[in-house]
Amino acid sequence: MAKLDRLYAHEILDSRATPTIEVVAILDSGDYGVSSVPSGSSTGSHEAHELRDNDPNRYLGRGVLNAVAHVNGDIAGVLVGKNIDSIAQVDQQLLTLDGTIDKSHFGANTLLGVSMAVTKALAAAAKVPLYRYVAHLATNTQPLFIPAPLFNMINGGKHGAGNLDFQEFIVIPNPHQPFTISLETGAVIYQNIKKILSRRGAIHSVGDEGGFAPNLFTNLDALEVLQEGIAESNRKPGIDVELGLDIAANSFLKDGRYVIKDRSSPMDTAEFIDYLRDLNNQYHLRLLEDALSEDDWRGWAALTAELGSVTTIAGDDLLVTNPEKVKKAIAEKACTAAVIKLNEAGTVTENIAVINQVRSAGWKIIISHRSGETNDTFIADFAVGVGADYAKFGAPARGERVAKYNRFLSIETELTQSPK
Ligand code: PGA
Ligand code: ZN
Repeated sequence: MAKLDRLYAHEILDSRATPTIEVVAILDSGDYGVSSVPSGSSTGSHEAHELRDNDPNRYLGRGVLNAVAHVNGDIAGVLVGKNIDSIAQVDQQLLTLDGTIDKSHFGANTLLGVSMAVTKALAAAAKVPLYRYVAHLATNTQPLFIPAPLFNMINGGKHGAGNLDFQEFIVIPNPHQPFTISLETGAVIYQNIKKILSRRGAIHSVGDEGGFAPNLFTNLDALEVLQEGIAESNRKPGIDVELGLDIAANSFLKDGRYVIKDRSSPMDTAEFIDYLRDLNNQYHLRLLEDALSEDDWRGWAALTAELGSVTTIAGDDLLVTNPEKVKKAIAEKACTAAVIKLNEAGTVTENIAVINQVRSAGWKIIISHRSGETNDTFIADFAVGVGADYAKFGAPARGERVAKYNRFLSIETELTQSPK
């Protein structure tokens, strides 16, 4: 049985020059795990608590030295020197120690850092790749495969330059092909979009998730650019690739109405659903994420009834990887897919429990990065291990995004060479 020999943490930077926590867990066997935690900016208001120092004299209040101190102090004090039966046992101890419903004592970031680092160490001790260890934790006995990537090519909303209301304009290569082909498709379309934006004189700096943050005026302009990028890459829409959107509707809901530049007047829920239906008729969207705001539950059920059979209706801010929200959404038939963000739930065990809950409803599972990321590739292994349908790691550009896609390439090679 494994025993934890050392557990410690320190502050590192994420991809937005904001501090985050990195945790190191070392077993008495010498096997170890190192993991770091991402952070969102278009966060759902019901996400588990992220612990920040709020000291205005350091990193604009965004430091995580308190989180570090919790790991090195209380948490190490309880876990170090003890036998570890399983990550479920460790996660339960963490939750008991924290003692709050929203994880506000230690912070979900602190708990996730410890949980992922110990999971990696246990996988190393078990002498299996992390994705296989996760499959075992998730009791996933199906053949493993690489989830289909959702490439976020154009960044708007809170991640972009300010013009576009919708947050993510996504290209989805045909899921029934090897990941190597999907990645090439994504990379070629990405390069062609860059050329198109340059020709149009729209600045092509990149946004938080590696997609371009262009100077386009309407959401429809951005969708047109994606279509042009697909055509210039000699890929067939609807066959080789499809389109998707993370609308992140919370960010443009004003006084209960949806306000976007494509329309001169604000729309109520029913009008916005009509708009989305027309948009879907025009662009044949494969994915509509957070198409309505996080509290518009009636609207979600109406949208799913209207479009759920032709497109995937994914809840992100609506569900915040929370079992109670997922339960409500299943009962109300509010979506057909869940976006899983590990730091919204807190521990590895809780994330797996939510995934099993989502799967029991027959919904699709999307494992997602955050807009503030590190080079940790835990979620790539996690996505393969739980058998996720889709993986959302941003554009095929920027190191912290590409690290995860490159990890998929390694796993694909391993799975091809030794599928068992
Ligand atoms: P976030 O954005 O990490 O800033 O929350 C990602 C998303 O909304 O999918
Ligand atoms: Zn989202």
